[in-house]
Amino acid sequence: MRDTAVLVTGGAGFIGSNLVDLLMEKGHTVYVLDDLSSGSLDNLEEWVDDHRFRFIRGDITSSIEDPIRSNIRGGPPIDTIFHLAARVDVTSSFEDPKQDAYTNYIGTMNVLDHALKNDVKRVIFASSAAIYGDTASLPIKEDAERSPLSPYGLHKLSSEGLLEVYRKQWGLSSASVRFFNVYGPRQDPKNPYSGVISKFMERAKMKEPLIIFGDGGQTRDFVYVGDVAEGLYQVARSKVHGPMNLGTGVETSVIDLAMTVRKVSMQELKMVHMPPRKGEIMRSVADISKIEEETGFTAQMTIEQGLKQTYEWFKRRC
Ligand SMILES: NC(=O)c1ccc[n+]([C@@H]2O[C@H](COP(=O)([O-])OP(=O)(O)OC[C@H]3O[C@@H](n4cnc5c(N)ncnc54)[C@H](O)[C@@H]3O)[C@@H](O)[C@H]2O)c1
Repeated sequence: MRDTAVLVTGGAGFIGSNLVDLLMEKGHTVYVLDDLSSGSLDNLEEWVDDHRFRFIRGDITSSIEDPIRSNIRGGPPIDTIFHLAARVDVTSSFEDPKQDAYTNYIGTMNVLDHALKNDVKRVIFASSAAIYGDTASLPIKEDAERSPLSPYGLHKLSSEGLLEVYRKQWGLSSASVRFFNVYGPRQDPKNPYSGVISKFMERAKMKEPLIIFGDGGQTRDFVYVGDVAEGLYQVARSKVHGPMNLGTGVETSVIDLAMTVRKVSMQELKMVHMPPRKGEIMRSVADISKIEEETGFTAQMTIEQGLKQTYEWFKRRC
């Protein structure tokens, strides 16, 4: 990836901007394509004046050919695409499933077409554990039953299918990385999809009680955003193809999470229990043997270390 450039779609968002940090720190030339619908240029402010960085404002649901070509003129060609641009709000995928399909499925097709036309060598796609639904036995392996419960999950799964067709029919090298519950700096607590950690962080900062739905026994595989960026990088450098889980392999309950938030914020925060949420998945944890064996990647951050770093960021933010 050295004498060439990397394109990150959705690079102004939470995970995308953390990936841009890692790529820039490793010395790459980085182009970001983003329509700023949920991302922000503030997330990229460290790099805007760097000669190795270019921001392209563009929408993956319309033609991306011209904006990309005109903005990268004179710079190195794109070797690898990390495709993270998406509508990530599961609730709004129920409200407007067609718009979700335009962005999360047709948008992926546009990115793959661009890759083929421009001789891009490899595409890494941000997929999601949402493709599994609630039926898989634990820990969840890549070949577990795929049974998405939302249009969002369905469009992620369909996009994985697209990557496979482009790989088999036109030889475009790719991999789909299924993220579990990502957390860390730059996650927006106002986004309904952003999950329990950013909400706990915001409440801890305001010294308000932590709200727990049900008894708090529901579990998730919480993975730190810096580990996700490193995992994506390792997958891009490998030759592995097809779907791959990216998590920690550690199952953490919401109640344990709340206790750890108390510890890292050094506050005796109250815990308030609310009725359980309808349809909530009770347990989830990734089987991470495929990514470990095929790329050598293992998440490094423990939940306590990750929460500490995240809490520091939330405190600094305002
Ligand atoms: N956060 C998680 O826990 C999680 C879990 C599984 C998968 N993912 C996937 O990871 C990726 C990044 O998610 P995130 O949490 O950083 O969300 P985010 O909303 O912060 O990032 C998404 C980015 O895509 C951009 N975008 C949206 N629609 C676009 C369009 N039509 N054209 C160009 N850019 C567009 C947004 O402006 C934003 O910068 C997404 O593909 C998401 O589905 C996230």
